[in-house]
Amino acid sequence: SKPKILVTRAVFPDVIERLEQHFEVESNQDDRILSPAELAEKVKGMDGIFTTPSERVTAEVLAANPSLKAVCNMAVGFNNIDVDAATKAGIVVTNTPDVLNETTADFAWALLLATARRVTESEHWLRAGKWQKWRFDTFLGADVHGATLGIIGMGRIGQAIARRSMGFDMKVVYHNRSRVAPELEARANNAQYVGKEELLKTADHVILALPYSPQVHHIIGAAELAMLKPTATLVNIARGGIVDDAALIDALRANRFAAAGLDVFENEPNFNPAFLTLSNVVLTPHIASASEPTRRAMANCAAGNLIAALTGGTPPNILNPQVLPKG
Ligand code: GLV
Ligand code: GLV
Repeated sequence: SKPKILVTRAVFPDVIERLEQHFEVESNQDDRILSPAELAEKVKGMDGIFTTPSERVTAEVLAANPSLKAVCNMAVGFNNIDVDAATKAGIVVTNTPDVLNETTADFAWALLLATARRVTESEHWLRAGKWQKWRFDTFLGADVHGATLGIIGMGRIGQAIARRSMGFDMKVVYHNRSRVAPELEARANNAQYVGKEELLKTADHVILALPYSPQVHHIIGAAELAMLKPTATLVNIARGGIVDDAALIDALRANRFAAAGLDVFENEPNFNPAFLTLSNVVLTPHIASASEPTRRAMANCAAGNLIAALTGGTPPNILNPQVLPKG
């Protein structure tokens, strides 16, 4: 009989059909976010699961089913999965890198421009019928062209963001765990490696593009936000938890810097409601990779990983290759 899999959230019907060619598929038709306790129940008897960042695949979920073989996440980030626990249990974990780099970089720019030029704030004002009050200094923003762009996290997404800055005549500084190869810096608009503090103090616009790990939890907190220029903008397309949201709300409330553009939050989707009371933020619901072709590519990438993992192949995007049989 076919291996059994659980698809934890709704996904493109043709991707479900593709999975059905290989597997007996159970999918979460209600499309509710399953809690770890619910997931632990549902995972029993499954050979693999197709997950999204909204489900927490904890050690308890993994332990609920000793015969589970693969967890395939439809995202590049995988901080929703306890990869160490999976590795100890011999369970394959995969993600969907690369297919979303360019789309996510586009969205970082959408947020940067919207934030610096106050696009959503001014639209709310227009919709509220306030155009009669227009004057010379209505919604003055910061220039993007000619400014210094600071990128924290110079992986493939950070580099794609940097390349886009060439058309805006920007100078790029970046911070990363380690310096990237000189030829990659050259392609990334001659990005210059600097310390985190120097970046925060000198950039006009800061974009966070690093993967989440416990080591980077709250690396942007009150002290770091205090280093930003008063006119600076901060964009986060990376992950909630990298920024201390309570400290960010305090800093925005006090107008310590100009504005923030946020696609990710702590405790999504139950983010801190104080953000809604601020006018100097652009808020989007974790959609940076959400273009039609890219979400299809991500879904098919995750499906391909699951098919390989459960049919004796090597999943192209395995995160813990040490679980594979030797040779
Ligand atoms: C989305 O946030 C992803 O990690 O792909
Ligand atoms: C993740 O952030 C990546 O750059 O691949």
